[in-house]
Amino acid sequence: MIIPKHIAIIMDGNGRWGIKKKKSRNFGHKKGLITVGGIINAAIKKNIKYLTLFIFSTENWKRPAKEINYLFKLLNNYIDNEVNNLIKKDIKIKVIGNIKSFPKILKAKIKNIEQITKQNQKIQINMALNYGSRQEIINSIKIINKKSLKINEKNISNFLYTGDIPEPDILIRTGNTKRISNFLIWQLIYTEIFFVKKMWPEFTKNDFYQIINNYKKIKRNFGGLNDKFD
Ligand code: IPE
Ligand code: IPE
Ligand code: MG
Repeated sequence: MIIPKHIAIIMDGNGRWGIKKKKSRNFGHKKGLITVGGIINAAIKKNIKYLTLFIFSTENWKRPAKEINYLFKLLNNYIDNEVNNLIKKDIKIKVIGNIKSFPKILKAKIKNIEQITKQNQKIQINMALNYGSRQEIINSIKIINKKSLKINEKNISNFLYTGDIPEPDILIRTGNTKRISNFLIWQLIYTEIFFVKKMWPEFTKNDFYQIINNYKKIKRNFGGLNDKFD
C-alpha cells in the first residue's frame, strides 16, 4: 500500500459554519483553527511528510478588514501558543506565498517560526499565506529569466515555492464547493481530488483517515495505461 507523501487542503467553509451556528464568520475561523491542530496530529500519525494548508489567498484581501484582521490575530496567537509544541513534535513550518504585505510583527513571528523549525523532520507544514498559484508561477518565471535559464517544466517547477518537495498526492477541499480557487494549479495535474461536503470546522480525523484509505485504493495512471492493458 502506498502512503501519500503530500496532502494539500483547501480549508473552506469556516464562515458559513459560524453563521449556521448563529454566531459570526470569525467564530467559524476560531473553530477552524482547532480542526487544523487535530489534522496536523492525524497527518503525523499517518506518516505524511508534507501537509500544505491554504490559509489566506491572494484574493482574500477582498474581504472586510474586520475578518482579515481576525485571521491575522488567530495566526499570531497560534504561533505564540504552539511554538514549543512545534519544536517538541519535530514539525517544520514553511510559508508558501508572499507575506511582504503582512503586518510587521506578524511577519517577524512567521519568519522566526520558520527559522527555528527549519531543521525539524517529522513533517513539513506548508502554510499558504497570501498565496496565489498564478502569482507563484509568474514569480518562478521571473527567477528563471533573471538566471538566464531555459523555460521548461523542470525549471518552472523548481522555482515554485514548492520546488523542493513532491507534488501533492491528495487534495482535499471541504465546504461543499468544487473549485480550485487559485491553489497549486501547476502542482495538481495528477493529484487525486476529494471534495468534502462538510464545512472545515466539522471535518474530523476520521474523515481524513477515510480519504487516505480511499486514496490507497486508486490506481494512478499518470497518463499511462491501467494494469490490465499492460
Ligand atoms: C475559510 O473558509 C477559508 C479562509 C479564507 C480562511 P471561508 O472563510 O472561505 O468560509 P466560507 O467559505 O465563507 O464559509
Ligand atoms: C479558498 O477559499 C481560500 C482558502 C481556503 C484560504 P475561498 O473561500 O477564498 O474560495 P472561493 O472564493 O469560495 O473560491
Ligand atoms: Mg470560502
